[in-house]
Amino acid sequence: MTEIAVSLLDVEEENAVSYFYNIETAKIDYFHLDVNDGKFVDNNNMEKMKDYALKINTVCMTPMEVHLMTETPKEYFDYFMDQGATRIIFHLEACKDNEEILSNIKYLNENGVRAGIAISPETSIERVYDYLPYIHMVLIMSVIPGRGGQKFIPEALRKIDKLKKYCKDNNIDIDIEVDGGINNVTCKDATSYGATTLVAGRYILDSDNYSEAVRSLREEYIEEEKE
Ligand code: DX5
Ligand code: ZN
Repeated sequence: MTEIAVSLLDVEEENAVSYFYNIETAKIDYFHLDVNDGKFVDNNNMEKMKDYALKINTVCMTPMEVHLMTETPKEYFDYFMDQGATRIIFHLEACKDNEEILSNIKYLNENGVRAGIAISPETSIERVYDYLPYIHMVLIMSVIPGRGGQKFIPEALRKIDKLKKYCKDNNIDIDIEVDGGINNVTCKDATSYGATTLVAGRYILDSDNYSEAVRSLREEYIEEEKE
C-alpha cells in the first residue's frame, strides 16, 4: 500500500495544532517535517519546525519523519530524535564527503532511528547506491528543495525507475519516497515507476476534505478508479 507523508512546510503557526489533529484523522502514515536552515536552502524555518516537532510529539500518535534541508545535518539529529522522530532524512549534497555520510547513517542507526538519504533534482541517483545497504529509505526530490507548492519535475520518474531496478537486481529492500509536487495526477506516475511513499504538502493542505485528498493519492484508490 502506498504510504502518505504530509509535509508541514506551509502550515501556518496560528492553526498548526488544529491542522495536526485534523490531518491525523485522515489516516496519514507520517508527518513530514521540512526543516530549512536558511543556508542549504533559503527561508530558515528551524524554530518553527522544532516547535511543530514538540507539539506533534506531545499531542499526536502518527509517526514523524524529518527532512533536513540543512548543512551539517548531524547538528539536528538529537533534537528531533528526542521529539520522537522515527525517520530522519539528510541530503547527500549537504555532506562534505563519504565519511560524513557514513557517520550520519551510523549515528542514526545506533540510536534506533531509520536513516534516509535525500537527493536533489540535480544529483544523479547512482550517487546513493553505495549507501543503500545501510539505510532504510531514499528521498527523491521532485522539486527544488526549500519551498512547497512547486510543479513536479518529471525527470524524477527516471530516477525512481533506475533505483527500483537497481534494488531489484541487487536484492535490496528499500523505501523509495518521492517529495514535491505530488497530487492526484503525479501520484499515479510516481507510484507506477516504483515510489512506495509519497510526500504531499499543498495538495492536501489546500483541499476541503483531507481524508479524500489523502485517499486519492494511494495506489489502491487509483486501481479502484480504473475499474
Ligand atoms: C520541499 C519539501 C517538500 C514540499 C512538499 O523542499 O521538501 O516536502 O514541502 O510540498 P508540495 O507537496 O506542496 O510540493
Ligand atoms: Zn520534504
